[in-house]
Amino acid sequence: MTPRIYTQEEIAKISQSALLVGATLAEVAKMIAPGVKTIELDRRAEEFIRANGANPSCKGYEGFPYTLCISVNEVVVHGFPSEYELKEGDVVSVDCVVDKDGYYGDSAYTFMVGNVEEPVRNLLEATKASLYKGIEQARAGKRTGDIGHAVQTYVEERGYGVVRELCGHGVGAHMHEKPDVLNYGKQGSGVMLRKGMVIAIEPMITLGKRNIGIAKNDWEIYTLDGKAAAHFEHSLAITEGEARILSSFEKIEEILKHK
Ligand code: MF3
Ligand code: CO
Repeated sequence: MTPRIYTQEEIAKISQSALLVGATLAEVAKMIAPGVKTIELDRRAEEFIRANGANPSCKGYEGFPYTLCISVNEVVVHGFPSEYELKEGDVVSVDCVVDKDGYYGDSAYTFMVGNVEEPVRNLLEATKASLYKGIEQARAGKRTGDIGHAVQTYVEERGYGVVRELCGHGVGAHMHEKPDVLNYGKQGSGVMLRKGMVIAIEPMITLGKRNIGIAKNDWEIYTLDGKAAAHFEHSLAITEGEARILSSFEKIEEILKHK
């Protein structure tokens, strides 16, 4: 399967969904505090998404039972919301996909609960920065390997690990489409990007070693050394110039600024 090329009208719809994810994550941001159960975040997100006329796409996807993937500390991605109460010093990746009018948007953000120790704070900072390093490479004529190389170089220079078992992906008419967008690789390798492709870039970066395990529930991915991981994700459309970022952290960061 070759990656799909989307029209401007379709990209506008993907953008609507991606922006709703940003708004949903901002609702979650308002609630994040010590003592809050992660299942409460999931309930709020589902209610907010449905109130906006969209569907929580993860819920039921290959049997995934929740609206949000909530991944705390050593959980990298695909964490299950639960009765766990967030505590000061936790970092929590919240990943959300919604679909509306048949088009999907996908984005994720890693939040801090109160004061977080400096090495972990720096990990979050670097992971987010690596996402934008990847986005800089995402333009027509470049290849997916250019994105992976940029992400990998940025984080490995700083001593972090790139989780290799999971990757970014095309997104649009489905949650996961071609091409795979790896977070490591060689410049000039991989699938050529073309105007109208829509992809999600999502670095999953570890403070310690990059090795991961899969929990008994067959979903949750955690670091084997038990050290923290971070995860940020944007959906974006490829153009001849700079990529058009379709999701947004603006609402999230507006909330975080006033916390
Ligand atoms: N953003 C995640 C991804 O890109 C969403 C996973 S949803 C799940 O794969 F249902 F698979 F958990
Ligand atoms: Co994704």
